[in-house]
Amino acid sequence: MKHIDTHMKRILFFLAAVCLSAAASSKTLVAYYSYTGNARAIVTELTNQISADVVEIQPAEKGLHYEANNYAIGTQLLNAIKAAPNDASSYPAIDPVSVSVSDYSTVIIVTPLWWSQMAAIMQSYLFQVGSQLAGKQVGLIVTSASSSISGVVADWKRLVPNANYLSENLWINNSNRSSMPTLVANWVETYGLDQTDNTAMPINVIVGNKTFSATLADSETGRAFAQLLPMTVTMNELNGNEKYHYLDSSLPTDSYHPGTIQAGDLMLYGNNCVVLFYETFSSSYSYTRIGSIDNLSGLAEALGSGSISVRFEKTTTTENLTPALSQGDGGKFLRNGQVYIQYNGQMYNVQGKQIQ
Ligand SMILES: Cc1cc2nc3c(=O)[nH]c(=O)nc-3n(C[C@H](O)[C@H](O)[C@H](O)COP(=O)(O)O)c2cc1C
Repeated sequence: MKHIDTHMKRILFFLAAVCLSAAASSKTLVAYYSYTGNARAIVTELTNQISADVVEIQPAEKGLHYEANNYAIGTQLLNAIKAAPNDASSYPAIDPVSVSVSDYSTVIIVTPLWWSQMAAIMQSYLFQVGSQLAGKQVGLIVTSASSSISGVVADWKRLVPNANYLSENLWINNSNRSSMPTLVANWVETYGLDQTDNTAMPINVIVGNKTFSATLADSETGRAFAQLLPMTVTMNELNGNEKYHYLDSSLPTDSYHPGTIQAGDLMLYGNNCVVLFYETFSSSYSYTRIGSIDNLSGLAEALGSGSISVRFEKTTTTENLTPALSQGDGGKFLRNGQVYIQYNGQMYNVQGKQIQ
């Protein structure tokens, strides 16, 4: 893309920076410590269900056996904290954590229970960052063998004062561990943390009399683009490999250097230029992914060599949804930024998939 002058680029860069910082402020961080893998398994399940960055807290001293000699080291570490909880030197050293909690609006702590308290290693992390979590939404997931978690909750409130605590903590123990995925799903649903409604969305890209199925990225950019549909635009030709169109409004950006552009990539250049690539080539430019065409067959031929009208529309699989709406017996609902449609007492997403 070379059709933007330097001044315009500066404005675009500024707008992109604004968009990026806005995006950052609604992100979720999952911070966990795990000695034998149970907390890690919860985090794996959790991040299958929600969009979140993950940071693992690790002790600086490696190879310790906290459970040896009837959990002697664990006991020792916890006793030191208990003796002087306000003294930084009471807490076991941890590896430096590069992620800054200030970039997140929600922070979920996943920790084992040790002797009915929060595992010492996680206490070290929260002692460092707890005050920065004030006012943020914070959640707690605890894994134990069997002991109940009130002591861990007390540690959490002491180390993370003045936060906006999720009212219900999730407790996974040996007797409910086999249901962990469902328990996690119910917990994230309770707080609207789940992104399951935002899974990659199929759309149609219609050029002339040819319809190409495409999939939007499961990202803020993909979702913002979906909000614009249906949309018919004139796309201009550039360099024999792309068609582009400047939107009237900007979309959230999360740009990267793809290196190789693949035919069928649907990208955002800057924050408002939609680019549909129809050839594969290497590029030094950076883009934000909007989505990609699923079936490339005939795409280059359909797009041709000049400007062309292209229609983007959501794929609707429930044929009777539209008449129902036009007769006025359907209702539209907005949840987590997604539109849902009620029809005959059932809820559908805009792709026509029944969701309850
Ligand atoms: C030092 C230490 C102390 C523990 N104390 C308890 C305890 O008091 N009650 C309990 O139910 N489980 C206790 N456990 C077991 C862990 O809480 C449990 O196995 C947890 O799921 C481990 O999580 P992880 O695999 O992520 O490390 C303790 C484990 C360790 C290492």
